[in-house]
Amino acid sequence: MIVLGIETSCDETAAAVVRREADGHGAILSSLVRAQLAEHAPYGGVVPEIAARAHIAVLDRLIAQAMAEAGVGFDALAGVAVTSGPGLVGGLVVGATTGKAVALAAGKPFVAVNHLEAHALTARLTDGVTFPYLALLVSGGHTQLLEVRGVGDYVRLGTTIDDALGEAFDKTAKLLGLPYPGGPAVERAAASGNPARFALPLPLHDRPGLDFSFAGLKTAVRLAAERAAPLSPQDVADLCASFQATVAAIVGRRAERALTGFRERRPGTPPVLVVAGGVAANGAIRAALSAAAAKSGARLVAAPLALCGDNAAMVAWAGAERLALGLTDALDAPIRPRWPLDANAAPMHGGGRLGARA
Ligand code: KG4
Ligand code: ZN
Repeated sequence: MIVLGIETSCDETAAAVVRREADGHGAILSSLVRAQLAEHAPYGGVVPEIAARAHIAVLDRLIAQAMAEAGVGFDALAGVAVTSGPGLVGGLVVGATTGKAVALAAGKPFVAVNHLEAHALTARLTDGVTFPYLALLVSGGHTQLLEVRGVGDYVRLGTTIDDALGEAFDKTAKLLGLPYPGGPAVERAAASGNPARFALPLPLHDRPGLDFSFAGLKTAVRLAAERAAPLSPQDVADLCASFQATVAAIVGRRAERALTGFRERRPGTPPVLVVAGGVAANGAIRAALSAAAAKSGARLVAAPLALCGDNAAMVAWAGAERLALGLTDALDAPIRPRWPLDANAAPMHGGGRLGARA
């Protein structure tokens, strides 16, 4: 089963072709991502209108290139899968309209994919992980811990009550004068910093449950920066290292707790923790998760770097998983700027730079 995937929910335009075998194995035939860094950099964050226009400018060529690299024509496709939410409305309209046009013209099924589901299922494409498993999604727009029970079957165990983790990295970078996107810049600066120099708070640390909070931490970084001003490059590096070590400790602690809960609920199921999303590229966070998994006797499956950030291979794969179950969508399927994976979970305030999309 060969599926074309399209991703335009935020500031990456992406097209990919993925193959799924009947036994559930998958292969990426092509995966192209064009980030809009230059377009948004002057504003220090994603500007929705600029994002939508930039998607229009490149999406058709990107699709043609993805098909050419995969060496297949539209007639070979089993379907066209498009991120239909959650995300920025303008970009979602561009992707969905384009994908529906391809599906209609080629006479192929259309699949509306939830972006978070695409992140959560990536580990099945890359590592053949079987249900059920735990997934930690950490990105600029979302921070959540899920129990993944099956395709379309998710239970949200915890989420952020204010900022998304990637957003906390981006805001920390901005206040320290580092470039956008902030996550990689903070990680680079932290490499030469002293993580023990600034003692930062661990929000919700001793409270039971699996929710996250990063807004207070961001304020603490700002206050520490103000006290240390004017900041030398070493001060910035030390602040970045302290911030990164603190969030890694928070994430590690939550992961450990989630794995303990999983073991209790499912004795006999070997626990697996999957981490995906842009922040999953962070070495300190990966190390903290790896330590948490080792301590809990669990397997950690971290998305390969190329599939951590937004991409269309994950969308094509989620589409293939849905197609394999006979799940398709009509061509009048709506886009859903807010689309929680777990319909039963209480909505949270905030939830990242994409508004309440988490
Ligand atoms: O998944 P993604 O590409 O897009 C969203 O759906 O948001 O994630 C982007 C986020 C940004 O906030 C970026 O700063 C963060 O992931 N990020 C990182 C790193 N690389 C990207 N955060 C920490 N460390 C990194 N190395
Ligand atoms: Zn994402």
